[in-house]
Amino acid sequence: MRRKLAAGNWKMNGLSADLGELDALAGAASGPDTEILICPPATLIATASARAKGTGLLIGAQDCHTNASGAHTGDISAAQLRDAGASAVILGHSERREAHEESSEIVRAKARAALEAGLAAIVCLGESLAQREAQNTLDIIGGQLAGSIPDSATGQNLVIAYEPIWAIGTGKVPTLAQIGEVHDFLRARLERRFGAGVGRSVRLLYGGSVKPGNASEIFTVSNVDGALVGGASLKAADFLPIIEALETA
Ligand code: PGA
Repeated sequence: MRRKLAAGNWKMNGLSADLGELDALAGAASGPDTEILICPPATLIATASARAKGTGLLIGAQDCHTNASGAHTGDISAAQLRDAGASAVILGHSERREAHEESSEIVRAKARAALEAGLAAIVCLGESLAQREAQNTLDIIGGQLAGSIPDSATGQNLVIAYEPIWAIGTGKVPTLAQIGEVHDFLRARLERRFGAGVGRSVRLLYGGSVKPGNASEIFTVSNVDGALVGGASLKAADFLPIIEALETA
């Protein structure tokens, strides 16, 4: 029922010379069951979109402004991202929640702007190590979910990425039981808020140190519909085996 999604977050990495990585991914992007999305830095969205055109490979962004236009020097609106060829935008990544002090309220406003512009919103949630050790994980995730997701969300325009902060870029991965607990909790909360139809159609990604060596087992966990991948999405040679693991899961 839910299409699988392999999403790559290039963060502040990548120059024009790196766009060749997209060609190998585009070749893998024709399967009917699995979507492949790369979110390069904003500087590369237009050229990446042109390069991926007609291949099935999707291009996304890593942030957008809450407003559609106006006096916001240095910012980029959702409509501008869409105009450049993006079909989705990552919002509320922990690196933005931390470094740019983005609250769930701001993330929700950005998600609303993204949906209004016709972009899918990939909203990130995740607990810190201290919060997990204090056994507050589900409280934190539940609060972020309630605060960050706009009422207009549907299975077509919303994706949620569970990314424990302590697993991002560290090589540490939660146990499969820990991932399953959070994903089942997210599914139940979505069904409660939006009803079974929408709640069951929103895709849930796991993110945080997903690599070719651990992807297959992560994709066996219930309610894991794909992955949001940072470091291992920069090179097609690393990302392709993750895509293949998802396709065969
Ligand atoms: P990582 O990053 O795969 O490098 O851990 C994941 C993310 O931050 O989305």
